Amino acid sequence: MYELKERDGLGRCGLITIGKKRVETPVLFPVINPKMSLVSPAELREMFGARAIITNSYIIYRSELRDFFLENGIHRGLGFNGVVMTDSGTFQDYVYGDVDVSNEEILSFQERIGSDIVTVLDVFSRPDDDYERVRACVEETVSRVRNALSLAKNSYVVAPIQGALYKDLRVKCAKALAKVNASIYAVGGVVPLMENYRFGELVDVIMWVKMNIPPSKPLHLFGAGHPMMFALAVLLGCDSFDSASYAKFARDDRLLTPMGTVHLKSLDQFPCECPMCMKYEPSDVMEMEKKERERVLALHNLYIMFAEIRRIRTAIKEGRLWEIVALRARSHPRLLDALRRLGKYKRYMERFEPMSRYSGMLYTGPETLHRPIIYRYERRVFERYRPSSGTALFRKTILGPVPVELSHTYPFAQCEGPDDWDSSARRHFKRLERRFSERLGMVKYAGDDYQVDELALLRAIADYQFGLGSGDALFPKHIRIVRSKRTGKIRAVYEGEMHIVSMRAEDFFLTLHIWGGIKLHRYLRPPSYRVVVSNKVAELNREGKNVFAKFVLDCDDNIRPRDEVLVVDESDELVAVGKATMNREEMLSFSRGMAVKVREGVNEVHRHTH
Ligand code: GUN
Ligand code: ZN
Repeated sequence: MYELKERDGLGRCGLITIGKKRVETPVLFPVINPKMSLVSPAELREMFGARAIITNSYIIYRSELRDFFLENGIHRGLGFNGVVMTDSGTFQDYVYGDVDVSNEEILSFQERIGSDIVTVLDVFSRPDDDYERVRACVEETVSRVRNALSLAKNSYVVAPIQGALYKDLRVKCAKALAKVNASIYAVGGVVPLMENYRFGELVDVIMWVKMNIPPSKPLHLFGAGHPMMFALAVLLGCDSFDSASYAKFARDDRLLTPMGTVHLKSLDQFPCECPMCMKYEPSDVMEMEKKERERVLALHNLYIMFAEIRRIRTAIKEGRLWEIVALRARSHPRLLDALRRLGKYKRYMERFEPMSRYSGMLYTGPETLHRPIIYRYERRVFERYRPSSGTALFRKTILGPVPVELSHTYPFAQCEGPDDWDSSARRHFKRLERRFSERLGMVKYAGDDYQVDELALLRAIADYQFGLGSGDALFPKHIRIVRSKRTGKIRAVYEGEMHIVSMRAEDFFLTLHIWGGIKLHRYLRPPSYRVVVSNKVAELNREGKNVFAKFVLDCDDNIRPRDEVLVVDESDELVAVGKATMNREEMLSFSRGMAVKVREGVNEVHRHTH
């Protein structure tokens, strides 16, 4: 079971629950070699707080360890009481080509040793395989996953998606498996892409999968090698990875860093503050016995990988994941290609893009102009903005010209950019300016001290949030504005004693209160900005309780995370107002977690109006 907690881009912080065990995502499963581990599972837990590891059931199955693990179980066998995921042997078959076990046999073995997450024996398709071969791989993989789910009813099953670089086959595989109830989906067959730094193609492959599996299921990336690409994978919606690179690189005397790899030989100082690098000089490590050296380097590599995961989790919570990805993209040109390739998917990504973030946005380079939030602005402003007086006035920002009424809303006032614009920013600006002038006549810019009429400002923001005409519907001429004592900015808007909306200081968007909800509900035709809840729970929401995804029957397709919404019952009676935490496909897919954080239920309203 997966529950969504925080989000940025397609990246998510969430909770996977398996029986009594819980893992926080994004999560890294370090690969354990069951025969010989440089760093033991117990050490992974103690030193790095690892809650989950992955090992290969096929290696165990084919070795003298088999009976030991059958007798003791995988947890006692490895000395690890967290979540143990097992892989099936698919990768061994790809590397050595000698795997002789059936899907049924290896699944049953994984269950018998007590693995928490079992993996189907999928058929690896290589990036350079021809179409017919890949088609056959996909067909066989789909049939094996179906078979696995009918055999292993009580297990947590990973369904790998194959299809190499053929879009139609990847999509077909993902769509076929989206229909079966796997616990986790995985992107398979991409290790050769990652080993060869083919990150642009990796973006395509992950997106073809991500766009076609249920959003309520975690997505695993098999063999995500290097920490410099973790942030990118998370931004694309990967919730977990496994990696053996800490050990592989250590074997070759190489150190991972978030910016790339360095060879021990080339260092006279360690550019790192991990306990290993603080304790030793590179020359000390050079002189160690091979085994000891390998362990020291593996530990360093693990510190780097776990630190990057923590950095990514924090970035998601702070709304800075794009900025981390942009930073990492400067470590290798192929990662920059990947970041640019994301522009192709902005239409899809926009559906999951929060209305605003807790922290400001940084202009990191031309790729910023292709972020989904900018795409949203360009689409919405031409649909939903109407100048309040005869002529529109604009402000200049690096993200493009913005009507003065909207210039404080996210991301414009919250965006930091260089004073010296690059040519992409200038071109983007000119293009938008031309579009505005075609629509509204000559584009004029407001002076710095220009004061926007408050009623016009409120109406324009409401139109931008909820659609044209919403501003007139929400705000009559005789509104009463409550201002911040300290800054003088608008804080809340009333009609007499009735609270219509408040204004959020950090993003300048409006938050609905019941009186605003009633007005908006009267004006907007269904399904606009509505979340329909089951009559069975509507009474709780009327009392102000949050809406859980499980009870959402339907929802407007235009709702985005952090949008303000109308909660209604099955006969479109207003029940509550609040902030959506999910979009439509998520609300309909998740069976756990909150869908709308309710601000006010209709039954609470008397408490606010006396
Ligand atoms: N490990 C690396 N790639 C793969 C894959 O495609 N499938 C499985 N099962 N394991 C892998
Ligand atoms: Zn270090």
